[in-house]
Amino acid sequence: MKNLLLAFACFIICSLVSAQTGTEQNNEPYRPKFHFTPKAHWMNDPNGLVFHNGVYHMFYQYYPEGRVWGPMHWGHATSKDLINWEEQKIALSPDSLGYIFSGSAVFDEFNTCGLGKNHKAPLVAIFTQHNNEGEKAGLNNFQNQCMAYSNDEGKTWTKYARNPVLKNPGIKDFRDPKVLWYPLGKKWVMALATGDHVTFYSSRDLKNWSKESEFGQSNGAHGGVWECPDLFPIDYNGKQVWVLLVSFNPGAPNGGSTTQYFIGDFDGKEFKPSDTETRIMDYGPDHYAGVTFSNTGHRRILIGWMSNWQYAQVVPTDPWRSAMTIPRELDLKDVDGKLYLTSNPIAELSGRMKEPKQIGSVNVKKEYDLSPKIDFRSATFSLQLADAEAKDFSIVLDNEVGDEMVIGYDKKSNQYYIDRSKSGKIDFETGFGKRSFAPRLASGLINLTLIADMASVELFADGGLTEMTGIFFPRQPVTKIWLKSTDGVKIKDVVYRRME
Ligand code: FRU
Repeated sequence: MKNLLLAFACFIICSLVSAQTGTEQNNEPYRPKFHFTPKAHWMNDPNGLVFHNGVYHMFYQYYPEGRVWGPMHWGHATSKDLINWEEQKIALSPDSLGYIFSGSAVFDEFNTCGLGKNHKAPLVAIFTQHNNEGEKAGLNNFQNQCMAYSNDEGKTWTKYARNPVLKNPGIKDFRDPKVLWYPLGKKWVMALATGDHVTFYSSRDLKNWSKESEFGQSNGAHGGVWECPDLFPIDYNGKQVWVLLVSFNPGAPNGGSTTQYFIGDFDGKEFKPSDTETRIMDYGPDHYAGVTFSNTGHRRILIGWMSNWQYAQVVPTDPWRSAMTIPRELDLKDVDGKLYLTSNPIAELSGRMKEPKQIGSVNVKKEYDLSPKIDFRSATFSLQLADAEAKDFSIVLDNEVGDEMVIGYDKKSNQYYIDRSKSGKIDFETGFGKRSFAPRLASGLINLTLIADMASVELFADGGLTEMTGIFFPRQPVTKIWLKSTDGVKIKDVVYRRME
């Protein structure tokens, strides 16, 4: 009898365990391990990124009732290390003023808004409310800027009683406020996407806003509407350089949506670009609406939405749609007298990686199978190539059924590329299999880091001067990694690191 009971208990435990791994491995093969995804339902832009009392808060565009875009809420996740995220309850839900669109959050240290309680400064969120009925009725003032505050470390949010705080003057696309504290003028500054350009506003109390200036009618890419601006300074060589990020959709060089940026100066009123070049932040197909955290001191940490409006709503993931990129640390680099942004994976990520596996120098003649050299239990890893010759080569992630996700460098055009034409499921949208290209800004030997997490790759080349982010949906898990080169290529050092 005892044995029978033991066998029965064993059976139950084994079934539970295999059911669980079954969920992980079979039903959700595209669920990343170290990128944030909601447990279920639709997500787009990161919103209200703010660091406060040791906790990173990430809010995000969220529709809790479906896997496609719908009435927007702010979902909420928190993290102590920017890698492990814990989903919290929904922070903001639609009301009579409309859906809760994108926006930002700040720690109002001096309680300028007067909404703090018991001498404690509040967290304040500023976001767009989008009135769907107004849009359907053909009005042009259906997007307005509203505010909410939290006096309990971001756990619960109260909408300001006198919303909206910034009324629409009659501009159809009037949204995505990004607010920053401008210490020189002791005031708040808001960058707002207004149709095909950005308008700057300022305020002493976050509740009353006045217009300062406009930027962009004749700058940058205008293939689509401007969205999700972000304005911030970066210290460079003892000087403050201002960066303005602006996402736009459609019209990206590789199709669909992407983010451009401008380098220049901001005096509290106006943004003046240093030149007329249109710079793209991440040339991969899947990096959009990226914005940076507030209240992180001199660190500039960005998270983007790892998808593209061109197909985001039809990608084959279930029961959720979309992931965020890994957080990236931004800096500047001079290339031939011009400044460019660099993005690199945050240092916290290496803390989560296993000891590096030094593969050493590799001489690729046609193809080199890295797979036997690596502990390869799941496709979550970083691969670093140091001092590779600038000749044609590619990194190929492969599986048992021959799906290939290809990330490479093309010498003739001096471009990096992502080719997912044979990467598995691609027929849910006609443009998905198209090759994406990124110009190489650096010269000389190539150094790159590739971060893969089940169904995505993020390429950081030349110290973060060129990035490419792409999602893919192999029919079977990736089980092989190749280095390939038609003319052969020598790589001084290859390092593989598995994620915990
Ligand atoms: C960008 C965007 C924003 C808007 C939000 C709506 O992806 O279109 O402009 O606030 O998404 O979900």
